[in-house]
Amino acid sequence: MPHSNIASIIKHIDSFPPLPSTVIRVLEITGDPESSAHELMQAVLPDQSMCVAILKIANSAFFGRPREVCSIEEAVVVLGFQEIRNIILTQAVFSSFRKFRNTNKHDIDALWQHSLTCGLTAKIIATHTTGYSPSQLFIAGLIHDIGKLILLISFPNYYSSVPEISEHLPLSLSSEEEEKFGISHDKVGMRLLNRWLFPEQLCASTGYHHHPETAPINTEFTLIVQMADILSHCIHSNEAINGQEILDLIKKFTPESTLLWRRYNFYWQEEDIENWLTDLRSDLANGALLNIFNK
Ligand SMILES: [Fe+2]
Ligand SMILES: [Fe+2]
Repeated sequence: MPHSNIASIIKHIDSFPPLPSTVIRVLEITGDPESSAHELMQAVLPDQSMCVAILKIANSAFFGRPREVCSIEEAVVVLGFQEIRNIILTQAVFSSFRKFRNTNKHDIDALWQHSLTCGLTAKIIATHTTGYSPSQLFIAGLIHDIGKLILLISFPNYYSSVPEISEHLPLSLSSEEEEKFGISHDKVGMRLLNRWLFPEQLCASTGYHHHPETAPINTEFTLIVQMADILSHCIHSNEAINGQEILDLIKKFTPESTLLWRRYNFYWQEEDIENWLTDLRSDLANGALLNIFNK
């Protein structure tokens, strides 16, 4: 049974619309250290909607830049290659969700809400932790469950057949999916992102966010996405749950990750979790990001 499921899922991944050619070109340019700012501008300028998206996001509260960016030339210089790449990838992911929204509105909206919350949480953690790009972690959080979008399209009753949360946390989800479908959403997502030629770091954080201990690269980055994922589930849970309870749950159910935190010098305390949740509640309440993309 799972084998026929795998074939159907892989067919859906392979028939998923490719990224627009401009996005692919931008990925090539920003991934090549020899590229110039002029080449990046030449790739972006002919695509009006992409130019609008870059300026809108660059000037949004999300970036919180002190000075307005008025042109693409300025955006490339001020923001740099990596930020431009992150903006364009974010826009591409938003478009994919929008494209399929009409087919399964309720479930895709729920997945979207979780993905957006996880992106915001990962960005908040990055802001409080040295050495990570907030916009890079935002996109990592936003796409971490993109495999579920494929599963929702392949199996419209996906959410009713696989419970999303067990005991507050999405801990046993990937093994339940493996049992039912023969493949879990994290691996489905990684396959799609590889096909889309997404940067290696983002493919890995998506593919291993339920088991960072098995990640072949970028384990620390994946650990942050896992933490953001768990906090996103907790914040939408009906039960009030505080920072210490969240830490206790994580330590109990993900001992491998707890050991990895130590190895990578992540000493997250109850206070850190409370601070992240406070920032997250305020980001969700002002909904600034949704206004940018929903127009
Ligand atoms: Fe997941
Ligand atoms: Fe998730």
